[in-house]
Amino acid sequence: MKTKFLFLSSAFLFLAFELSARTVVSLDGDWNYIVDPQNIGTKSYHCDPDSDSDNMNFGRNARAKNKFQLIEYDFRAADTLKVPGDWNTQKKELLWYEGTLWYSRQFEFTKPAPGTRTFVKFGGVSLKADVYMNGKKLGRHVGGFTPFEFEVTDIVKNGLNDIVVRSDNTREKSGIPTKGFDWWNYGGIIRSVELESRSSNYIASWRADLRKGGDDGSIDVSLKLDKAVADVPVKFSVPELGIDFSGRTSSEGMLAFTVKSPELQSWSPKNPKLYKVEISAGEDRLSEEIGFRMIETRGGKIFLNGEEIFLKGVCIHDEAPGGGRVTTREQVLENIRRAKSLGCNFVRLAHYPHIEMMVKECEKAGLLVWSEIPLYWMIDWNNSATYASAESQLKEMIGRDVRRANVVIWSIANETVPSKSRNTFLKRLARKARSLDSTRLVSMAMEVTYLEDGTYTIKDELNAEVDVISFNEYFGWYVQPKDIPNAVWHIPFDKPVIISEFGGGALAGRHGGPRERWTEEMQKDIYEKNVKMFGGIKNLSGTCPWILNDFCSPRRPLVGVQDGYNRKGLFAPDGAEKLAEDVMREYYKNK
Ligand code: GCU
Repeated sequence: MKTKFLFLSSAFLFLAFELSARTVVSLDGDWNYIVDPQNIGTKSYHCDPDSDSDNMNFGRNARAKNKFQLIEYDFRAADTLKVPGDWNTQKKELLWYEGTLWYSRQFEFTKPAPGTRTFVKFGGVSLKADVYMNGKKLGRHVGGFTPFEFEVTDIVKNGLNDIVVRSDNTREKSGIPTKGFDWWNYGGIIRSVELESRSSNYIASWRADLRKGGDDGSIDVSLKLDKAVADVPVKFSVPELGIDFSGRTSSEGMLAFTVKSPELQSWSPKNPKLYKVEISAGEDRLSEEIGFRMIETRGGKIFLNGEEIFLKGVCIHDEAPGGGRVTTREQVLENIRRAKSLGCNFVRLAHYPHIEMMVKECEKAGLLVWSEIPLYWMIDWNNSATYASAESQLKEMIGRDVRRANVVIWSIANETVPSKSRNTFLKRLARKARSLDSTRLVSMAMEVTYLEDGTYTIKDELNAEVDVISFNEYFGWYVQPKDIPNAVWHIPFDKPVIISEFGGGALAGRHGGPRERWTEEMQKDIYEKNVKMFGGIKNLSGTCPWILNDFCSPRRPLVGVQDGYNRKGLFAPDGAEKLAEDVMREYYKNK
């Protein structure tokens, strides 16, 4: 009997070890919801959780226990919204809604082995979230486009559980973004929700980068465990390259090492090579497809894997063609198809971190990525909470996509007017970006300065802080220089230059002369003149027309033309191409 027992226990241990990779339970699907414009549902917790004074305490997801108790809400009887997904495009009555909306669902759960820890993970909730589970408040997250999680190890139960999320897309002066922005203020749990169970001391972060300057295929790897425990065994392998490294963590629960593979194929738009990488530490084991590449600037040029590259870009909003936040692979692939049809090797994912799936599919499709935080226009520069939000969203953006070979530029701002407080704020943020990730380029979309002599420059103290000087210009649409093709630019830095936005509006199918607003011919004329101008800009290393698709914005009310859409797209919502598209395709083909 004894022997048999011994055999069984070791088999169980082996099985437990083998199965210790993370387990994920999706909470996507139908969630009940209650619209709460007056925030009645945020009763505090000081009162007795079982008394009916919690009448309006939505976080408890209560239900009247008997016919004498007063509870004036019942999630289970309420209508449902799909998660992931914005509420605006799911219910007509919520199209314009800005405020608080509560989500709730119940789910069955089987607790994993003792010692395993469980987390609830959100891909994104716009613009802020308060999360409750089984009547307990887990915490708050501010920032509508980046992932966050809460540990629920001691809160989630075997059997039926409640989760409640208070989402709030109210625009605030102190927010990032602030009150004004030219896109639809979609609200809600716009990205997936899942429960993930991990070993007690799991890999909290890791990265693997091709060493700068080294063309011997050296890959610098670093990882950090959740807890500072020494001597945890670490394995890192890239089977296709015959890389198989073993090591142990330091007393801080960290490990940094270098592996080498001379026959490594660098990731590039022409060869978006990804390798299956496996990394384990103790009982935690992760595997991911990642690419290895080198991005750097030398003087006024951008180099990818040691070769000069011109970024043939286009700007894209995280919006499904026709409206609503992107949630499906089909929507992602359609936007990628359209960008590729232009001849792009680069996309500016404006004006906030896009759904993770978009970045990963762009990586597979060979599209380089500019990723940015929604620090846009009139930011509350003197507000420390505003800076904290900008920095936390920057950290979360970088943390999520740090292993994406195609992400090459982190952008910290869009069209912010220079001032002492703005310069201080952005210098600090630019340095933070570089300290978080020294392997990528830092930029921001700046404004054009019109010089007395009729020439143009980018006069911005932040030029000294960025790796790439980027700016938005709307010659031919918002401003009418006399001779656009021969406009003279003096950009006084020996750094690469990217035009991060240019273009003009057109209603697909409307035709007329090249000076007639909203005609495809005018938009085409703007593109032709700008493309000619590009030839005269020193160090021009990339262009991003604004924008791939017409997109929804409450700032575009012109009936019969805009109808709530910004019409600067090269594609109409239904996918119709506009004449300007041919100009862009021709320009990129000849680049
Ligand atoms: C700005 C801004 C965009 C906006 C565009 C426009 O440059 O960055 O978000 O949509 O202009 O006016 O269409």
